[in-house]
Amino acid sequence: MCGIVGAVSNQNIVPILVQGLSRLEYRGYDSCGVAVHANGLHRARSTSRVAELQAQITSSQFQGSTGIAHTRWATHGVPAVHNAHPHFSHGPGVDAASQPGRIALVHNGIIENHDELRIALQAKGYVFQSQTDTEVIAHLVDSLYDGDVLEAVKSALASLRGAYAIAVFCKDEPHRLIGTRAGSPLILGVGTDGQSYYLASDAMALAGVTDQIVYLEEGDVADLQLGAYRLFNKAFQLLTTAQRPVKTVHAHSGAADLGPYRHYMQKEIFEQPRAIADTLEGVNRIMPALFDGANASAAQVFQTIDSVLILACGTSYYSGCTAKYWLESIAKIPTQVEVASEYRYRDSVPHARTLVVTISQSGETADTLAALRHAQSLGMNHSLTICNVATSAMVRECELIYITRAGVEIGVASTKAFTAQLAGLFLLTLALAQSRGLLDDATQERHIKAMRHLPAAMQSVLALEPQVMAWAQDFAPKENALFLGRGLHYPIALEGALKLKEISYIHAEAYPAGELKHGPLALVTSAMPVVTVAPNDALLEKLKSNMHEVRARGGVLYVLADADSHIESADGLYVIRMPEHYGALSPLLHVMPLQLLAYHTACARGTDVDKPRNLAKSVTVE
Ligand code: M6R
Repeated sequence: MCGIVGAVSNQNIVPILVQGLSRLEYRGYDSCGVAVHANGLHRARSTSRVAELQAQITSSQFQGSTGIAHTRWATHGVPAVHNAHPHFSHGPGVDAASQPGRIALVHNGIIENHDELRIALQAKGYVFQSQTDTEVIAHLVDSLYDGDVLEAVKSALASLRGAYAIAVFCKDEPHRLIGTRAGSPLILGVGTDGQSYYLASDAMALAGVTDQIVYLEEGDVADLQLGAYRLFNKAFQLLTTAQRPVKTVHAHSGAADLGPYRHYMQKEIFEQPRAIADTLEGVNRIMPALFDGANASAAQVFQTIDSVLILACGTSYYSGCTAKYWLESIAKIPTQVEVASEYRYRDSVPHARTLVVTISQSGETADTLAALRHAQSLGMNHSLTICNVATSAMVRECELIYITRAGVEIGVASTKAFTAQLAGLFLLTLALAQSRGLLDDATQERHIKAMRHLPAAMQSVLALEPQVMAWAQDFAPKENALFLGRGLHYPIALEGALKLKEISYIHAEAYPAGELKHGPLALVTSAMPVVTVAPNDALLEKLKSNMHEVRARGGVLYVLADADSHIESADGLYVIRMPEHYGALSPLLHVMPLQLLAYHTACARGTDVDKPRNLAKSVTVE
């Protein structure tokens, strides 16, 4: 989703700004732009890729030592150059086309009261060039500017409602950059030369520039000048370095090599054995300490809580749905899983002894963060996150922490983060079972052994790729697909359907197979492929009956069956045999052919696999 980079230096910062944008590209965007101070404000914007922006800049000798840059994911106004950031304000009654800008501003988030602010600013003579909520902030700051951009921003914030991370500078103060955040992430980077300072929405944008990072907290305002910076809290009290310490952050550059793969998604699917091995590294026995936070002991928390509430979105939500089966059957702990965007707005009954578990690849998903804060505001003070980004807001805001080691995930479709989350959630289940006296040594050893074997089992599943590619040829011309699963594998069916729809644009639905005859059976014809996740578990015979229901209506079945499940290929029934039966951990294996199916179907349809239309990697707005 939208990305911000900004810099104040005594050198030309354009290469750093553009490189920062390249590093944020993986989050998804539809336009990008950069503005610098060089005897006035100058900018370049593009609705193409960052590489095209770079080409524009190179040909026009664009340079400056103070500047801001942005990747935009459209919320207000279509993706178009006039809506791309940075936005300029020119003062009231000024013809933008003929006058240089005075305020330059980029913004992530959504300003909820932009309409009323726009009307008030238009009444003062401001002329708008875009449909964005961001341009409103630029004009608002301009309208309050009286020689000090910090003061103008400070006054403007009092009128803004919504979520924002903002970077702004003014033509009349060439070596000064102001940043502020509320609801969207923003960090400050301290340059190694003692002169340069940076702003970014993500530490990854500054990889290779500086690893000295200050995390701005809600409502903080940063005043960056050449050779010095100051930070203020939301009450505009000056903060000390002890209050906002500089941390050394080794952010990955994100410029991962594709190696032999065509797309990041394919690479990331094939990295799963490694991701699981890394996630489990050093885990020789189950102990609550695996989940300790910086200042909190999981052993103590686990003794206190008597239920679990999982909050997450998208693929992370489906890993939570899978974990519910484990937590209730192995740890015998009542578990509720909620879509974060629903939970945050509904009236719920808080329970102080609940462990709130957030699951997130990025750790910056706005809805999940807001749901966590909502739960905390209701008095649920015990929280734990399963997260793939150690430097994220989610990790900073949760009491207990489990960092998955999937590595940077670039493809918008989440794959290796999902299986790494499942591994973390399985460990959490075992740790809670242990705390509740439900895990004997022999069972613990058996589970750890099975987890250790997972990378090898995953390799065998990846070897099925050619068979999945054959299925993908059948799926490519279709417009609809149905996914069925039962029990633990119902969330896997949901995840398979999400993968297929988000990258191939085929409409896909998932149902618990027992629900078929309560409605979706009406959809089944020979034109509707029906994917069935059929491990050899206690529900297999029930599932076989559901498959008969489909075949009897002319439906075509694509079945992921275990070796010993006695389901044979036949006319209208295509079977891929999974290499081995994996018990409780089987979801980690069964999801992989579904990821490959979505991937190869998308390739066959020629879609943009790593950057599917309308989607962003990190959804940092509501
Ligand atoms: O970073 P998060 O795990 O919090 O992201 C949650 C969802 O936005 C994400 O899983 C999304 O559904 C993916 N595109 C799915 O592939």
